[in-house]
Amino acid sequence: MKQVMLFLLSFLLPVLSNGVSYAGDKCLTCHKGLSDKPSSLYSHDIHSSKGISCAECHGGNQNSDDMEQAMSKEAGFIGVPKGDDISKVCSNCHANPDKMNELGSTLPTNQWQLLQTSVHGKSSLAGNEHIVQCITCHSVHNIVSVKNPASPVYPLNAVKTCTKCHADPAYMRAYNPSMPVDQLEKYKTSVHGMRNSKGDSKTAECASCHGGHDIRSANDVKSSVYAVNIPSTCSHCHSNSVYMKEYNIPIDQYEKFSKSVHGISLLQKRDVAAPACNDCHGNHGATPPGVESISKVCGTCHALNAELFSSSPHKKVFDEKKLPECETCHSNHEIIAATEKLLGATPEAVCSRCHNENQNPKGYVIAKAMRHLTDSLESSENNAGALVTDAEQKGMEISEAKFKLRDIHQARLQTRTMVHSFNAKKFNEAAMKGLSTASFVAGEAQHAIDEYYFRRWGLGIATLIISIVGVALYLTIRKIEIKQQNKNNGIKES
Ligand code: HEC
Ligand code: HEC
Ligand code: HEC
Ligand code: HEC
Ligand code: HEC
Ligand code: HEC
Ligand code: HEC
Ligand code: HEC
Ligand code: HEC
Ligand code: HEC
Ligand code: HEC
Repeated sequence: MKQVMLFLLSFLLPVLSNGVSYAGDKCLTCHKGLSDKPSSLYSHDIHSSKGISCAECHGGNQNSDDMEQAMSKEAGFIGVPKGDDISKVCSNCHANPDKMNELGSTLPTNQWQLLQTSVHGKSSLAGNEHIVQCITCHSVHNIVSVKNPASPVYPLNAVKTCTKCHADPAYMRAYNPSMPVDQLEKYKTSVHGMRNSKGDSKTAECASCHGGHDIRSANDVKSSVYAVNIPSTCSHCHSNSVYMKEYNIPIDQYEKFSKSVHGISLLQKRDVAAPACNDCHGNHGATPPGVESISKVCGTCHALNAELFSSSPHKKVFDEKKLPECETCHSNHEIIAATEKLLGATPEAVCSRCHNENQNPKGYVIAKAMRHLTDSLESSENNAGALVTDAEQKGMEISEAKFKLRDIHQARLQTRTMVHSFNAKKFNEAAMKGLSTASFVAGEAQHAIDEYYFRRWGLGIATLIISIVGVALYLTIRKIEIKQQNKNNGIKES
């Protein structure tokens, strides 16, 4: 009796729970009777709530309660789809805008197309079978809206969905032995991961950075995690004042970054040598670099600056005061081009934030001296350059001095780096090298210019003398000639 009741209830339940009548779907009716998994799961499926029959995916005649007939080839029954046929079944609707419209949906219809060009869609072991099918991420028979907390791709579940493959070394090895499988481990240590595991659905999970369908390798220029695209991927959340409202952190990182030397280089010049957000924050371990690690982050690219800083007198002082090593002077997101203006005792110089006549005066004196040397070097470089140009325009041979101009510039660049030793002696050495080269070049150029004038004066005087001699000669000859003529004409001299 109890069993009969249950049996009857199983017919009624879907009707009661969904408010949709399945009187027409004989597939469901009979399968419910079998108490199989697909039919019992299906009552929670979004497709079932849209009145979609089992036959829409499996084919067959949903109006027949005769098993043979309902599930016959003639009625279009395809049985259980396998491999790539699975995604094709889904795409009969999801890649067909007309059909989706008919069913009252305004969802995008590009999932299949995107999946095929994604790294998952391109890769396979068995010839043409994709690594992932629609149901790998969305499940089957209990498919729900992606915004439903029960969805396997809901932010709190997505990590599990992706890492069932990506944290499985044995599985991954079969496809791509060089692919790291540490994303989950690292993710767990990040601010995103820690919050996600505590139920915060708004921090980034795998699909927030990689997407769901259009997942591509990081070195694919179309990937959301390709270096040039990363800042906008992150700023999608981090620059959104409404989205980030409940968090007490700034939302100006993108704005500042895009104006920084790094941002201009990466976003405008598309130079991937410049850091994107993840180069400083990590990909999966996206935490702010702690005070300890910041100079290490900058030092991965600016090795010499970091090395000099480490053996400078600032190292100990900054460590004691828990000041970040590079950020203290250069900031983090809005790093501007470094010029000599940062150096010295002027109000715009970073040094004057901590050094003046009374406060840390020794550094004050040295900072001032460094700036003085830098300015001298710069004006010497300009002066030497101008003299070389002048000499060249006057047609003088000056190629050796011109070549040495580069050495002066090199020395100027070296002093910019050498600032980070915060050591007067080392800085002076670099600066003096440039100054002495500059004085040599200027000397050579001046010499050439002098020579030019000397030659010009020489020529002028010679021409004058020759002209005077010429005129004198002419006059003399003329005088002799007249004399001769008079003689010939017999005119007597008076
Ligand atoms: C009158 C009962 C009945 C009706 C109607 C019915 N089925 Fe079935 N179906 C069964 C039974 C029983 C089995 C298991 C038979 C087997 O394992 O060979 C089954 C098996 C299946 C399978 C698995 C086949 C496989 O190869 O493993 C699918 C899929 C299926 N049915 C879908 C449908 C669809 C879609 C419809 C409607 C078009 C439908 N069924 C209509 C009773 C029914
Ligand atoms: C949205 C499409 C879709 C709908 C609707 C759907 N199925 Fe399926 N079904 C599939 C796919 C895809 C598979 C293959 C699953 C796999 O490979 O793991 C499957 C597998 C099955 C299987 C065999 C595997 C198993 O889990 O036992 C049965 C039986 C089945 N479906 C029955 C049904 C019945 C009955 C209904 C209606 C209540 C239904 N399906 C509705 C897509 C669908
Ligand atoms: C008969 C057409 C049809 C088939 C076949 C179909 N779907 Fe759907 N699907 C729909 C409709 C209609 C909706 C509801 C759309 C809406 O609410 O705007 C939907 C909704 C969904 C959603 C929820 C989207 C959201 O967040 O609102 C997912 C996920 C989904 N389908 C996945 C699948 C998968 C996976 C398959 C294949 C196993 C599949 N569908 C097969 C028509 C279909
Ligand atoms: C690798 C996992 C994965 C696979 C495979 C996958 N999806 Fe999705 N899908 C997602 C995620 C994650 C979302 C959530 C929104 C987003 O990031 O696009 C989503 C969202 C959706 C939506 C909601 C509308 C939208 O586009 O955002 C639909 C419908 C959908 N998927 C259908 C499909 C279909 C159909 C297939 C197979 C062709 C498929 N998905 C394959 C992960 C996947
Ligand atoms: C069914 C297993 C499986 C699932 C689930 C899966 N992936 Fe993958 N994924 C793979 C395999 C295998 C590769 C390697 C493909 C290759 O290199 O040929 C891959 C490649 C990738 C890559 C490319 C890495 C690179 O730089 O080349 C990214 C990114 C990625 N997956 C992210 C995700 C995300 C995000 C999810 C969840 C939304 C996910 N995957 C779900 C199996 C899976
Ligand atoms: C905050 C953004 C972000 C999140 C969250 C994220 N990734 Fe990534 N992921 C990246 C970036 C950026 C790269 C590319 C790094 C590079 O340039 O090589 C990457 C690279 C990858 C790769 C290529 C191999 C590698 O490790 O470099 C895979 C696979 C991958 N991610 C999977 C995942 C999975 C799985 C998750 C979820 C646990 C996840 N990612 C979460 C940003 C993210
Ligand atoms: C889906 C939205 C989203 C995306 C995409 C995202 N984040 Fe986040 N991120 C958050 C939220 C929310 C927090 C939590 C804020 C907090 O820590 O209070 C957070 C926290 C952080 C923090 C820690 C901030 C702090 O001091 O607590 C860093 C650093 C960070 N994200 C960097 C990144 C980087 C880099 C990327 C891109 C590679 C990225 N995020 C992508 C939403 C996102
Ligand atoms: C050159 C390295 C670098 C780059 C590039 C970078 N950051 Fe940061 N970021 C930092 C440092 C250093 C901090 C400060 C950490 C601390 O104080 O512990 C920080 C702090 C943060 C914080 C915490 C809140 C705050 O503003 O202090 C977030 C969020 C963040 N960054 C996101 C981003 C995003 C998004 C991008 C890309 C648009 C980005 N960062 C680019 C180095 C960088
Ligand atoms: C991924 C490598 C990378 C990382 C990490 C990095 N930088 Fe840079 N940085 C560059 C490149 C490349 C340039 C040159 C950009 C240009 O001029 O086109 C640059 C330029 C600079 C400049 C301007 C130099 C000039 O000539 O004016 C400063 C200052 C600077 N970075 C400081 C930092 C600081 C501080 C950090 C850490 C918070 C950092 N960088 C992290 C690669 C990096
Ligand atoms: C006490 C302040 C201060 C600190 C700390 C500091 N810098 Fe600098 N940095 C400067 C000044 C001043 C200049 C400009 C010198 C000039 O143009 O004459 C500069 C110039 C630079 C330049 C451009 C010149 C070059 O070497 O290419 C880079 C890159 C740079 N710094 C990186 C760093 C890094 C990386 C760190 C951390 C290891 C760091 N700085 C720490 C003050 C500082
Ligand atoms: C955040 C504060 C701070 C900034 C900014 C700063 N310094 Fe210092 N500096 C100190 C402190 C504190 C000491 C140790 C006290 C002392 O020796 O005067 C120090 C020591 C020095 C010393 C060693 C003095 C000695 O005893 O031999 C030099 C040289 C120096 N700084 C130069 C500079 C220059 C150049 C700049 C600008 C590019 C600069 N500092 C920016 C805080 C700072």
